[in-house]
Amino acid sequence: MGKFIIANWKMNMTNAGAKDFLDEFRPQTKNTVVICPPFTALTTVGAADGFAVGAQNMHYAENGAYTGEVSAEMLVELGVGYVLVGHSERRTKFVETDEFVINKAKAAISNEIVPVVCVGETKEEYQSGKTKDILSRQLSGLGQLDGEFIVAYEPVWAIGTGLVPTMEEIADIHVFIRGITKAPILYGGSVTDKNAGEIMAIPNVDGVLVGGAALCPNKFTGIINAAN
Ligand code: 13P
Repeated sequence: MGKFIIANWKMNMTNAGAKDFLDEFRPQTKNTVVICPPFTALTTVGAADGFAVGAQNMHYAENGAYTGEVSAEMLVELGVGYVLVGHSERRTKFVETDEFVINKAKAAISNEIVPVVCVGETKEEYQSGKTKDILSRQLSGLGQLDGEFIVAYEPVWAIGTGLVPTMEEIADIHVFIRGITKAPILYGGSVTDKNAGEIMAIPNVDGVLVGGAALCPNKFTGIINAAN
């Protein structure tokens, strides 16, 4: 199986900023590259060649009274092939539950969008040895998914901090998740062009989900090249 290298731009990049990024970004790889920009830059990013476009969020309802939300059908219309669901920032800052997350994943699959189900433990949960309990709970709904999906393991304490688990810890957690699902399993949290090669060489690490380093064309290209 090839690797997945997925960029999560979060709430960064105007449409003009996305155009500047794309002017410099020419990935050369047989692996799957996906960029998840803010909704406002989906059309711009989706029009570029050489990689796929994903959304950072969606609602599970088909349509209706959900002010500010976007449905799967609306994303499909823009050529979106992937969607992040359950990112830790949405679980904490927007109070998304496991049930809500799995409902989004189901709706994505029904619309032929591949959901990237994000999971991970907080610093307190890590320090108290609860990581696998938390992951078991967050992944307990995967059995309800009937179609293609991806899992992204992102320890919350590693996101945007420059802290990364040891390679042994990542290997151990990915074996654990492999015991739950055959889907591709990505690692995320402070991935850079310096550590991406080592991380992607770990068994059961099928790619990476990248935040900050994916905002710079050169750094993101370095991460993509590390998988080649
Ligand atoms: P960083 O790569 O900035 O740590 O962010 C990771 C992340 O949250 C990707 O979804």
